[in-house]
Amino acid sequence: MSISRARLDRFISEKCQINRKNVRLLLAQKRVTVDGVIAADVAQAIDKFSVISVDNQVVQQNKALYIMMHKPVGVVCATKDLQHKTVIDLLDAGLSTEEKASLHIVGRLDLNTSGLVLLTNDSRWSEQLTSPNNKVTKHYRVTLKNPLSQAYIKAFAEGMYFAYENITTLPATLTIISPHQAEVILMEGKYHQIKRMFGRFSNPVIGLHRTSIGEYVLSDSLQPGESQPITLDGQTLKVNV
Ligand code: URA
Repeated sequence: MSISRARLDRFISEKCQINRKNVRLLLAQKRVTVDGVIAADVAQAIDKFSVISVDNQVVQQNKALYIMMHKPVGVVCATKDLQHKTVIDLLDAGLSTEEKASLHIVGRLDLNTSGLVLLTNDSRWSEQLTSPNNKVTKHYRVTLKNPLSQAYIKAFAEGMYFAYENITTLPATLTIISPHQAEVILMEGKYHQIKRMFGRFSNPVIGLHRTSIGEYVLSDSLQPGESQPITLDGQTLKVNV
C-alpha cells in the first residue's frame, strides 16, 4: 500500500472537472493554495494529507491518524470478520465512520496474541515501520508450557530455516526472564513466527504479548481493548512531498 502522490494540476482537474489549461489559469490567478501557500507550479507534488483550496474553498483536507491499541486476546487484527470482534470494532467512538474506514493495521497479531497494535491512514508511516529494509524491532513477552534453557538463546540468535517460505529467520534476541517466561526481540514478522520458533523445541507458547514496535511502546495506562491517538515527532509526521 503506498500513499498516492499526485501532481497538483491533475488533482484539481479531476476534482473540479476542468481541463489542465484552466487549472494553469487558476494558478496564474493565484486562486489555489496548498497547505496555506499560494501554488505556482502545476507540477507540484501533493498527497492525501495536503490541504488544498481553490478560491478559499477547501477541496481536500484529510487528517493523518496514528493510533495505539492494547489488543486483547480473542480480537482479530482485521477490518471485518464474521466470527470475532475486530480491532476496528474496539476503536473509540471519537472517530467518524469514514475515519475508521480509512485505517489499516501496522503489523498484525494473531487472534490469541495480545498487546501493541498500531493503526493509521498514513501508508508512508506504516511502510517505514514494516519495510524489511528498516529492520524495526518488535518486543514480545512469551509464556511457555515447558521450561526454557540456554539452547534457545543460541537457536534464536542463529536464525531458523522455514522450508515452507524457504527463508532463514533474522537473528532474534531471546532473554530468559524466568523458567517459563522470555522476552523475544524480532526484526521481522513472519507468519506465526514466535510460535513456530518455539515449536522447534516442541514447547507450546501459552501466552504472547507485544510490548513495542520500534520506538512505540505500549502505554501502561491502556487497558486491554483501549486505544489512544499518538503524536509523532514533527519529522515523522511531516508528509509534504
Ligand atoms: N509471532 C506469533 O507467532 N504470533 C504473533 O501474533 C506475533 C508474532
